[in-house]
Amino acid sequence: MAAKVIVKLGGGLITDKSSIKTPKLDIIDSICDEISNLVSSGNSVIIVHGAGSYGHLLARKWSLSHGLKKNISEQQRKAVEIVRNDMKELSGLVSKSLSDRGIETTTFPPSEWAKNTGDSFKGDVSVFDSFPDNVVPITYGDVVNVDGKPEFGILSGDDLMARISIEIPSVTHCVFLLGDADGMMDRPPNLEGSKLIELWKSGEFVQTEHDSEHDVTGGIELKAERASLISEKVEEVWFINGNFPERLSELLSSGTTIGTKIVS
Ligand code: IPE
Repeated sequence: MAAKVIVKLGGGLITDKSSIKTPKLDIIDSICDEISNLVSSGNSVIIVHGAGSYGHLLARKWSLSHGLKKNISEQQRKAVEIVRNDMKELSGLVSKSLSDRGIETTTFPPSEWAKNTGDSFKGDVSVFDSFPDNVVPITYGDVVNVDGKPEFGILSGDDLMARISIEIPSVTHCVFLLGDADGMMDRPPNLEGSKLIELWKSGEFVQTEHDSEHDVTGGIELKAERASLISEKVEEVWFINGNFPERLSELLSSGTTIGTKIVS
């Protein structure tokens, strides 16, 4: 049976997080190879991607996730425009890689259709269900307008994942592709001896480490929270190592792969 897969390409997977606007083009291409295989086999795919060094570094420098601050408002407003443009550029690299593989895409910049942050943001996600199976809609974490004094804030791709997966009834698989691990690990992945958790139930303890130096959204904690919310509605919710995108096909064809399955 054909699947409807929503995939998050983590910002740390598709960019070098520590170096401003440094895309990992070979990784983007290998993921797009895999996505084009999935689409050619009759599955439909929705892409959400993160920001990595196209968003977090400037957002952190100008405290964009905390909204407008009087003393630096001018610089912040400039930074908002720069990050929005940079995110369009990064998204363009993903859509170009897919179009090089013959896949048609349509991109929805959240700054143009979403308002407010967190998973109760305002915005109609039903549009992601309005395409033929061979067209891949793309959206991403972005700086969005926020009601009231803060004026703007950061809407994470993880919140978009939650809303789209929950509100589109035909989604069969929701996959978070990670840049630095095979899935959810029992300890931070950079620690020696950390082990893959194959099945993770919401509420189970994991020792995590938030990279607040590079990350203005919630890191693996936010992902885990959103993934467990999604798992109440979608049967197949997974964290998979995006450096091995062929694991996506394996999951679809055999029902399992190396990664963490999130259950409610
Ligand atoms: C963050 O989105 C958006 C900006 C900083 C502009 P995400 O939270 O989805 O990004 P990653 O995956 O952590 O890079």
